Amino acid sequence: MYFSTTAAALLAIPGASAQLNQLAKAAGKLYFGSATDNGELTDAAYVAILEDANMFGQITPGNGQKWEYTEPSQGQFDYTSGDQIVDFAESNGQIVRCHTLAWYSQLPSWVGDGTWTVDTLTSVLNTHIANEVGHYKGQCRSWDVVNEALNEDGTYRENVFYTVIGESYIPLAFEATAAADPDAKLYYNDYNIEGTGAKQDGAVTIINLVKDAGAKIDGVGMQAHLIVGTIPTQSDLETSINSYLSAGVTEVAYTELDIRFSSLPPDDAGLQQQATDYGTVTQACLAVDACVGITIWDYTDKYSWIPGVFAGSGAALPWDENLSEKPAYSTISSVLAAAATGSASNATITTTLVTSTLITATSVPTSTSGS
Ligand SMILES: *[C@@H]1O[C@H](CO)[C@@H](O)[C@H](O)[C@H]1NC(C)=O
Ligand SMILES: *[C@@H]1O[C@H](CO)[C@@H](O)[C@H](O)[C@H]1NC(C)=O
Repeated sequence: MYFSTTAAALLAIPGASAQLNQLAKAAGKLYFGSATDNGELTDAAYVAILEDANMFGQITPGNGQKWEYTEPSQGQFDYTSGDQIVDFAESNGQIVRCHTLAWYSQLPSWVGDGTWTVDTLTSVLNTHIANEVGHYKGQCRSWDVVNEALNEDGTYRENVFYTVIGESYIPLAFEATAAADPDAKLYYNDYNIEGTGAKQDGAVTIINLVKDAGAKIDGVGMQAHLIVGTIPTQSDLETSINSYLSAGVTEVAYTELDIRFSSLPPDDAGLQQQATDYGTVTQACLAVDACVGITIWDYTDKYSWIPGVFAGSGAALPWDENLSEKPAYSTISSVLAAAATGSASNATITTTLVTSTLITATSVPTSTSGS
């Protein structure tokens, strides 16, 4: 398959429509990606969409690299689940975002309920990171090194690492990760830091904390688990991104994007609002060069984590439970296509713009598209 650098050529193939990762790359991003999980990889119809690198250029393991799987008892390392996802991505030519190392949740009880001193827990954290990051060395474009370390008011969350070691567990984790894989991009990852406010300020504090300790931090991952009709404005999204860049990271990404309905089922107007909201997040990433890409937290409502955690909520993803594309898919695609043809600076999403772009694009002689 020929990969064009212009959307015009991508769209010139009669009857073919360019897919999300192709369009994202044509618009200057590194990838458009999806999380996935081990149990879903036996669903052939699901896999057929996930494995298409034109659609998804990046994969995140939803669970398999978390501490409860990778070191379920002290010193017993198991990478079976994580390897399955990483191998899947590599066999498809997809980038891997690795997830996650220092996190209070999905932490085995031997860590969370253990009796520790600063020295013993520091040793446990260093050993875990050295082993896991060492195992995946060279395979992870980025690591979510520290996950969800903040309360909603921007203070540090009480967890075993913070309680025993103090805030220095954060730079310590970044140092250990950099030592084990110097080439990986190292991220702080959290939710409700997409817009402006106390928690976003807290994320800036973490960047400063890590840098002041002399450790490397490359990026901020904005999870973006959002609710239809309540998302931050594009302006606030960009202000937040720029606050992280000003604090000294070189990149950001939307790492776990989903936009859920609080009551089900959605009606047509709701699906249109969801599409607009997905378009707004996509525009924000396009507007800032240092936003490297967008990852949705799985791609289909069939495998979304939302209904299991937020009872009565759901329908959060761009593909429905039957793997059909929703209006959100069309809008993400249109916004990326418009950016790919040089309209990225135009924040107005209009059907007119997109339609005229497509008509212009399909009039390009097919000989320029290759095969
Ligand atoms: C998925 O397909 C089933 C069976 O045809 C149908 O009942 C259901 O409404 C569909 N879901 C959506 C979101 O369209
Ligand atoms: C953005 O695109 C719309 C639709 O084509 C157009 O009406 C508007 O003038 C454009 N704005 C800028 C600033 O280019």
